[in-house]
Formats: sequence, structure tokens, C-alpha cells
Amino acid sequence: MKIGIIGQGYVGLTIAVFASETYEVIGFDSKSELVDQLNSGISHIEGVESTLLAKRIKDGRYVATNLGSKLADVDLVIIAVPTPLTKDRKPDLSFIDSACHTIGRNIEKSILVINESTSFPGTLRNYIKPAIESYSSKKVQHLFAISPERVDPGRTDFNQKNTPRLYAGLTPAASARTKDFYSKFCDNLIEVSSPEVAEAAKLFENTFRQVNIALVNEFAQIAHALGISVYETLDAANTKPYGFMKFTPSAGVGGHCIPVDPTYLAAVAEEHGAPATFIRRANEVNLEMSEYIVRRVAEDNGGSLQGKNVLVVGVAYKPNVADLRETAAELVIEHLRSQGAVVSWHDDVVGKWKGESSVPLHGADIVIVVTKHDSVDEKEIMTSAPYVFDTTGKVKGAKGL
Ligand SMILES: NC(=O)c1ccc[n+]([C@@H]2O[C@H](COP(=O)([O-])OP(=O)(O)OC[C@H]3O[C@@H](n4cnc5c(N)ncnc54)[C@H](O)[C@@H]3O)[C@@H](O)[C@H]2O)c1
Repeated sequence: MKIGIIGQGYVGLTIAVFASETYEVIGFDSKSELVDQLNSGISHIEGVESTLLAKRIKDGRYVATNLGSKLADVDLVIIAVPTPLTKDRKPDLSFIDSACHTIGRNIEKSILVINESTSFPGTLRNYIKPAIESYSSKKVQHLFAISPERVDPGRTDFNQKNTPRLYAGLTPAASARTKDFYSKFCDNLIEVSSPEVAEAAKLFENTFRQVNIALVNEFAQIAHALGISVYETLDAANTKPYGFMKFTPSAGVGGHCIPVDPTYLAAVAEEHGAPATFIRRANEVNLEMSEYIVRRVAEDNGGSLQGKNVLVVGVAYKPNVADLRETAAELVIEHLRSQGAVVSWHDDVVGKWKGESSVPLHGADIVIVVTKHDSVDEKEIMTSAPYVFDTTGKVKGAKGL
């Protein structure tokens, strides 16, 4: 069986290397430089080894392309394109629409179309199916299914094989073929009664995290005001063997999922006249953390950051990855600069960002740790400046939340 995967980013490339063990995979991406890079056997995703990618290419199991015509003879296509927010923070389905265009225009036989991109309930039924059918000049009738992706880039204990996967087809035939497809490389497949349930479950998983992160971020501020340790209090609460799940405070949330997916849920809720109060407020609390942290640092340093050399340690949105999407470090840096601080950053995993480069870890007046990669030494952080504020709870002896 030949499969096409539209979008060769975190999700699409990860699926590609797993699926290409069993199937022949064509990885379609609109970025031609990325296509060239992938075809030369170089992965751009943590967790996808270049050696494995190169092997798949050598074995004739994988090829990347930006030509839609190469998808003409696939038996199944997966959509794995971004689903971001527009400037006014509304769901942006333009990438999905463009993927539908590629499918509609190039695939003239009936196949199975699976959406793995995260979106609100109803996207498969009310957007993807009609869009593909409208772009198809021969009005080809495909089978449609959803199987939301749960990959956590950089994570080694859970992968495509052992992470349970939800799925649902628009028809029983679509469900059956979807199960058959994933069962070759995923151990635990869970069918739900409709695509809308699968779409909503994915959004709710990330909303659950967003709301709980906001709650613990708010609690960190309460604990500080009360003069008690937030970490000790959380550890104490976590001794309860049931009904409690520990989340830890931070400078905010980043990545493509947690800051974005809940807004998809809120948008569809409000469209249907249902409240999304927690979701909207949680988003605000998380966004406000950067300002709170800069305020705390200023208070500890005589009330002003004007002219101070501040080094932000870790600008990726989470440890051990180079992913900068929606990173909280961006807001922290913005607030610091608006207070007149001279800001540089250290992150050798990221290297370069927004025309700036990672600087060595020493010589600052103030260090703020936003993300701590395993490769950064705790003691080195503590000796890099006379004042260190740690937002991660991982640097012993530093000031912090
Ligand atoms: N990254 C994650 O951890 C994660 C986890 C679960 C779900 N998701 C969801 O999966 C989807 C994809 O996310 P991602 O992290 O892989 O994004 P990404 O930005 O890493 O990759 C998307 C790729 O799609 C390509 N692309 C965009 N439009 C295209 C088009 N019309 N045709 C072909 N290629 C196109 C881009 O060039 C890019 O390489 C999103 O809906 C996201 O919410 C992501």
C-alpha cells in the first residue's frame, strides 16, 4: 500500500518514519527546501533520527516531494498540516483548505483520507469532506476518518507504537480501513462513536492541561504572597493517593498545542452559545505569567531593570527541543526590554532565533531561567550571575516561583 502524508513537520514526519516500516510513504510538503533536506536524509525533528530517515529513503520506502501529482496513485492520505490561530485568535483552517485542494486536484481514485491535524468538532464532516469534493473535478467520493495525533516531540517513553490512538470514520467502512492501517504500527486503537467525539477529545486533553497549568500558575502567585513554598505545597498535596494530579508552575505555556487548541474549543463553544469561561481565563493567566515574573525580578533588584544585563536561559518552549512556537521566553524578553533591560539569551539547543544568537552563560547582572535543557549545568547557571531567578523549579539555590 502506498500512502501520502501532507505536511512533513513534527506530526507528519514522525508518522512517516513509523508507517514506512510497513508502507511505501510519500511525504508531501509545500516547503521545497525542507523537501530537499528530507530527501538528503536529514531530519529536522527531534525524535526522528536522520539515520532512520536515510535508511527508509535507501530502502525505497520514503520519498519527500512538493509535487501534488506524485500523490496521484496513493491508496490513503493523511493530513498533518498546521492549525494555528488567525491574528484575531480565531481558528485558521487555511492550511487544511490548501491540503484539501492538493488532494482534490491530484487524487482521482477513491481513497481513505485521514485527518491528524487538531481542529474543532465537525471539521472532518463539515470542512474537509466538502472541500475535497469541491476541488475534485471528477467529484470523486473518498472515505474519511479522523485520528488526532498525540505525539509529544522529544519524548522517548511514549511514541507512535505505545500511545493509544483514537479514531472514527464518517462511515463504518472508513473506520474499518483506518483501524487496519494504524494497527500495523500502533498497539492500542480505540474507536469512538463519531469523528466529532475524537476531535473534541483531542481538544479537551490539551484544554485540561492548559486550565490546570493556569491554576498552578495562579497558585504560585498566591503561595508567594503567603510566604510559603509553592513546590513544597504541591509535593505535600501530591501525597494524596487519589483525586489529585500535580502540575508545576512556569513562565507560561508554549508549543503548537496547549496555547492554541483550547481556543479552538472556546471558539466552537461560543459559536454554539455555550460558555468557555475557564478556557478564556486560563489563557489569560498563562499569558500574564511572563509579566509577573519580570515584576518579581525587578522587585528583587531595587525596583528597576533599566540598563541591567539580563540573560534569559532557555528560549525553547520546553526542555531538550529546539521548538520555539508560542514560547513564553518571547513574552519574558519583550517585558524585560520594555523595562529598559539589556537582554541576551543562552540556548545552545536553539542556537539562532529572530536574527539573534545564543550567547555564553556568564557575565550577566541577572539570569532568568525560562527553560532548562538537560545539557545546561545547574552549577554553571548559579555562577553565571549574582542574581538567578528560576521559573522551572529545577535550579537549586536560585530565587524562583
Ligand atoms: N507538534 C505536536 O506536538 C503536535 C501534537 C499533536 C497534534 N499536533 C497537530 O498536528 C498538526 C500539525 O502540527 P505539526 O506540529 O506537525 O506542524 P509543523 O509546523 O511542524 O509541520 C507542518 C508542516 O506542514 C507543511 N505545510 C503547511 N501547509 C501545507 C500544505 N498546504 N501542503 C503541504 N504541506 C504543508 C509545513 O511546511 C510544515 O512542514 C497541527 O494541527 C497540530 O495542532 C501537533
